[in-house]
Amino acid sequence: MSKLAWWQRGVVYQIYPRSFQDTSGNGVGDLQGVIERLAYLNDGTERSLGVDAIWLSPFYPSPMKDFGYDVSDYCNVHPLFGDLATFDRLIEEAHKRGIRIIIDYVPNHTSDEHPWFIESRSSRDNPKADWYIWRDPKPDGSPPNNWGSVFGGPAWEWDETRQQYYFHQFVVGQPDLNWRNPEVKAAMFDVLRFWLERGVDGFRMDVIGMIIKHPDMPDQPWLTDVDPNLPENAIYWRQEHIYDQDQDDVHQVLREMRALLDEYGDTVGIGELFYSLPRWVKYYGEQGDELHLPFNFRLIDHLPVWDAQQARRIVDDVDGAVPPFGWPNYVLGNHDQPRVASRFGAEQARTAAMLLLTLRGTPTLYYGDELGIPNGDIKPEQKVDPWGIQMGVKYTRDVCRTPMQWDDSPYAGFSNVEPWLPVTPDYRTRNVAAQDKDERSMLNLYRRLLWYRKGSAPLYGGSYQAVDTPHADVFAYLREADGERIFVALNFGDEERTVSPPSRGQLVLSTALDRAQGVTNEVKLRPYEGVIIELG
Ligand code: NOJ
Repeated sequence: MSKLAWWQRGVVYQIYPRSFQDTSGNGVGDLQGVIERLAYLNDGTERSLGVDAIWLSPFYPSPMKDFGYDVSDYCNVHPLFGDLATFDRLIEEAHKRGIRIIIDYVPNHTSDEHPWFIESRSSRDNPKADWYIWRDPKPDGSPPNNWGSVFGGPAWEWDETRQQYYFHQFVVGQPDLNWRNPEVKAAMFDVLRFWLERGVDGFRMDVIGMIIKHPDMPDQPWLTDVDPNLPENAIYWRQEHIYDQDQDDVHQVLREMRALLDEYGDTVGIGELFYSLPRWVKYYGEQGDELHLPFNFRLIDHLPVWDAQQARRIVDDVDGAVPPFGWPNYVLGNHDQPRVASRFGAEQARTAAMLLLTLRGTPTLYYGDELGIPNGDIKPEQKVDPWGIQMGVKYTRDVCRTPMQWDDSPYAGFSNVEPWLPVTPDYRTRNVAAQDKDERSMLNLYRRLLWYRKGSAPLYGGSYQAVDTPHADVFAYLREADGERIFVALNFGDEERTVSPPSRGQLVLSTALDRAQGVTNEVKLRPYEGVIIELG
């Protein structure tokens, strides 16, 4: 096996800073809280989770119209979360423990309170007049084209001073930057440099495929087959996105970004992208010179129900599509999606953990999934997420952003005052302290899987090959490196299934954490059980 980079071999853990650990006593998590929980993430022993990198969702100054994805200063820390000195300490403390720091980079849009936008909107001829996407109205005064905002309604907002519309792919307070302007590109590249100089190890790049739009911004075609339950204002969701994103010339910008990252050595660029497989693979770059990891959301977007054959199809397709110089990655949850334990069920979530941590490619975990936290119970009047409020749909992203559950004290050890979102009701029994003591808990399953993966060349770096079994509800595969072979068999169903590994082997880990039997050439999987077998 060739030498692997840390971001290939390792496991990433996403922290939503507002919800991880509050140390300042204001009900919102902060960077000091992350520092204080580093030992939980990796203290070098198997009593800790054992992750290799943290991805921090935005902690920048922001009016919080989209909870930090509306940035008003890219080179600072919001006082809610701390300050630059705390960030520097976080880097130092994390690096001491061998934990890399990946930060969120939000290049598509700023906040409308960013000084760049304030200047840009002040007149049609100021130095930053062309830093955002401004267009004249149509002769009848209506917006320049039919594009919709991801968060509902048209993507254009009228500005009285300029007597023009500005474009916002997300909320009104998130104007899109004009990346076709070289000054914008230079300023945003300086942002990357600012953080790389401070020692960050990489970036998760928000909606990176959207930063370049078709220069003429033509109307987009309407989809003919749309979900009848889509709310009236969901214009974006009724269109074919052929001009507002995934334009061929975005790849030139990504090559330049990659060259910049490469100047700083062993860094990683992870991009948020939602495209079809053939479009998605292009983001690795034709020569492997763009993103290290185009985020792969297929186990979220293409697995609406817990189905072994569908999971296999997804993994086979992804594994087959990634170019030889590329590296796959998988993810089951994040700060936008319903919790994995609620999507698939509590027992299924254990099997899902084994799936995620035994595939070929970098896994990204979402905070709290290691405890099996379900969707939060958010009453309509408790909604704060702009998507949940503006789209008029039942789902709100607040459900997956509830505070981390550390112990059974009031507010779950997250804070000593009422948190910004309610703690999930099951926190008295589902928390780190309780699961730490329970040898068969979800937390201990995650720890075992992570540490086992770390020591297993086939798992962190080997090849992947699906294995047929007689059962449609079993997904099985071989992982192989340097002559070592691992067989993974996952029972997605609620019935017992017997499977035979390709040769005799040793069962080393079960999702139930209650057996590690001797040499076997047949294994009986209980409902939702997954096993790892080392082949002889
Ligand atoms: C994608 C992020 O994951 C989401 O949370 C955010 O609202 C939008 N991009 C806009 O930045």
